[in-house]
Amino acid sequence: MSKSSLFFCTLLLIVIVFALADAELLRKTFIIRVERDAKPSIFPTHKHWYESTLRSLSPTAIHDNSSDSADVSTVIHTYDTVFHGFSAKLSTSEAQRLETLSGIVALIPEQVRHLHTTRSPEFLGLKTSDSAGLLKDSDFGSDLVIGVIDTGIWPERKSFNDRELGPVPTKWKGQCVAGEKFSATSCNRKLIGARYFSDGYEATNGKMNKTIEFRSPRDSDGHGTHTASIAAGRYVFPASTLGYARGVAAGMAPKARLAAYKVCWNAGCYDSDILAAFDMAVADGVDVISLSVGGVVVPYYLDAIAIGAFGASDAGVFVSASAGNGGPGGLTVTNVAPWVTTVGAGNIDRDFPADVKLGNGKIISGVSVYGGPALAPHKLYPLIYAGSEGSDGYSSSLCLEGSLDPNIVQGKIVLCDRGINSRAVKGEVVKKAGGIGMILANGVFDGEGLVADCHVLPATSVGASAGEEIRKYITEMSKSKTPAMATIMFKGTRVNVQPAPLVASFSARGPNPETPEILKPDVIAPGLNILAGWPDGVGPSGIPSDKRRTEFNILSGTSMACPHVSGLAALLKAAHPEWSPAAIRSALMTTAYTVDNRGETMLDESTGNSSTVMDYGAGHVHPQKAMDPGLIYDLSSYDYVDFLCNSNYTTKNVQLVTRKYKDCSGAKRAGHIGNLNYPSLSAVFQQYGKKNKTSTHFIRTVTNVGESNSVYEVTINPPKGVVVTVQPERLAFRRVGQKLNFLVRVQVRKEKLSAGNSVLKSGSIVWSDGKHDVISPVVVTIQQPL
Ligand SMILES: *[C@@H]1O[C@H](CO)[C@@H](O)[C@H](O)[C@H]1NC(C)=O
Ligand SMILES: *[C@@H]1O[C@H](CO)[C@@H](O)[C@H](O)[C@H]1NC(C)=O
Ligand SMILES: *[C@@H]1O[C@H](CO)[C@@H](O)[C@H](O)[C@H]1NC(C)=O
Ligand SMILES: *[C@@H]1O[C@H](CO)[C@@H](O)[C@H](O)[C@H]1NC(C)=O
Ligand SMILES: *[C@@H]1O[C@H](CO)[C@@H](O)[C@H](O)[C@H]1NC(C)=O
Repeated sequence: MSKSSLFFCTLLLIVIVFALADAELLRKTFIIRVERDAKPSIFPTHKHWYESTLRSLSPTAIHDNSSDSADVSTVIHTYDTVFHGFSAKLSTSEAQRLETLSGIVALIPEQVRHLHTTRSPEFLGLKTSDSAGLLKDSDFGSDLVIGVIDTGIWPERKSFNDRELGPVPTKWKGQCVAGEKFSATSCNRKLIGARYFSDGYEATNGKMNKTIEFRSPRDSDGHGTHTASIAAGRYVFPASTLGYARGVAAGMAPKARLAAYKVCWNAGCYDSDILAAFDMAVADGVDVISLSVGGVVVPYYLDAIAIGAFGASDAGVFVSASAGNGGPGGLTVTNVAPWVTTVGAGNIDRDFPADVKLGNGKIISGVSVYGGPALAPHKLYPLIYAGSEGSDGYSSSLCLEGSLDPNIVQGKIVLCDRGINSRAVKGEVVKKAGGIGMILANGVFDGEGLVADCHVLPATSVGASAGEEIRKYITEMSKSKTPAMATIMFKGTRVNVQPAPLVASFSARGPNPETPEILKPDVIAPGLNILAGWPDGVGPSGIPSDKRRTEFNILSGTSMACPHVSGLAALLKAAHPEWSPAAIRSALMTTAYTVDNRGETMLDESTGNSSTVMDYGAGHVHPQKAMDPGLIYDLSSYDYVDFLCNSNYTTKNVQLVTRKYKDCSGAKRAGHIGNLNYPSLSAVFQQYGKKNKTSTHFIRTVTNVGESNSVYEVTINPPKGVVVTVQPERLAFRRVGQKLNFLVRVQVRKEKLSAGNSVLKSGSIVWSDGKHDVISPVVVTIQQPL
């Protein structure tokens, strides 16, 4: 061996040793599933057992009792209601050793999740409901508890007052946990519980900065207060944000009780905390869990939200979750487990026009909820594009921090492109540089979808093609050496807007990336420009420099759509206490509608074209109809176990999600994944070989929840070029609660497709007794493999 190669080897060895030491020191959080009955009897509690197990992983550790010793990992949370096990930070080798110990089923690596509001910086934009009507005056929902897993709550808001509410339901076992700026008496008969979960967050991020967040259930962000008041806020009049959307603010279930579970902090929402919140919420006795948070789609056995939601659903708790804001592209939907109700976002028939008038007289429509002093009427201001020559290109086109030259921007209206930093922050950047107004233009990926914001200066949002037009105008003017001019005309609140509903641009779309045989999202609900409660500690734009204070704020996102469905679920559960979570979802899906207030198919905001089942699932929720759906497609935990077995999950992975059920041998014989008794039907065909025709079938069971002696007949609207048959075509129910089966056969012809391409077709089957229309989408995807 030459000297140099010896040197090289030594160097390599050193590198390896360092790398190993690094892996050793770099601990990551895992959620550990433990065999519940495996606890040795010498340990008084599971926690003692878990701690002892962790200590045994570090034989070299100094066995003192100081918990912050870097050598011993400690238990972050223990779980016992929706899951059995604990979470802890482990090095790679500790994780490997732990996995081999008896009683340990599996380790799930933690994911960090984010809020599904379009204001969050994670939403890069790349890729009122007055419908309660009949229910409003009713007492429905008054004993139901909605658990909101979110950023906490601002309990003093009028939306959470407890006037004329009865005593706290006796079944309630929750608590009002005190903490910073939040006392145990902050709760009342409306907000009946509040807890916070920060150990997982702090295990990864270190101690939180208490000058910017509260170690308590108090909301320092606003998102949790907003979502909670959408689900179950009381009537508040007058409600508005800086004069916009004046009227009555009311949640979907104004009499339902709320419990806040704070899991989201400045750096995100950590799985170990989210699972602890699910565990506690179910133990506390919530009826509905609302979760406007999500992350990357992974198999259900690695997904703490899916696992927590399964445990909740198994305990009879309805879980609704936001679909995500990754639209308008396909395959963007998240929170897709079939035991979760996945909610996309639509608009309501109200908007906030704020039009741009250009120097050439052209009027371009935009939206805004800017509420400060307006620009002078009948006056035009110099207009510039932030990305024009002379500035530093890309970063200034986006109006990033410090990218604008005050000498250029001073006294002008600035056109900024959407993306990277939050929309409100762009306004702040323009204002700091001396700009007097901002036009925020969508990029091509954002399409034409507009979100109204509470900007800190006069500002409006315009679509991608309008942005292009304004840029062109500025370029032309600069060529002709004439200054480009513009102003923004704020027109307040406009109602009875057509078309509505339409699918919001940002709303995440199918196909379901994890299980294409289950159509997701399930439904859409209002999620664009929604007025709801807002905390005192944060300005309506959400940026720290914004010192304005408002009791209400207008936000957009599937985050805002989800709590509409959570509140609705509470109303349905109150009216039908015996309904399972799947029955509630079925009622919402089979009564959903797909036409807008012009009587035409709902549009996709991003294109202005008709939307599809991949955008809206079964359609937009219809509260009154959902109260009386006629028939429901019910499901039990055992059906979900069969589903997982038919998804070819190993016994261990099925057990990881479902805990007490194990054996797959019966399920696999029983059929295929599409036979889950879901209210929508989705067939996925791969075109192999020369076969001209191929077919599949679905078995479904419907339960009569309408009247006795009702007879339903089927109407089939087959997808184009697809043969759909239903047997039998008539279902005669003698009594309420009776179940009847039917078989749906779907036959497709070979499509001319190039390799790797696919075609989507949709239709429906409708069971009708003359009074109820029970609608199921039928979706066919034909793929040509590569
Ligand atoms: C362990 O904790 C006890 C009681 O808190 C304390 O008296 C003792 O000094 C601690 N031991 C070590 C090694 O830190
Ligand atoms: C906490 O946040 C404040 C406000 O952003 C900041 O000034 C301070 O330096 C932060 N403290 C720590 C310890 O990071
Ligand atoms: C929208 O419709 C137009 C006209 O029918 C069509 O040319 C365009 O491709 C459609 N856009 C999308 C994204 O489907
Ligand atoms: C499960 O495995 C079987 C047999 O290999 C296969 O036919 C089926 O398509 C698989 N199902 C899924 C959902 O992957
Ligand atoms: C499939 O369809 C093509 C064109 O319609 C026809 O020529 C061919 O004979 C068919 N093959 C079979 C197996 O039916």
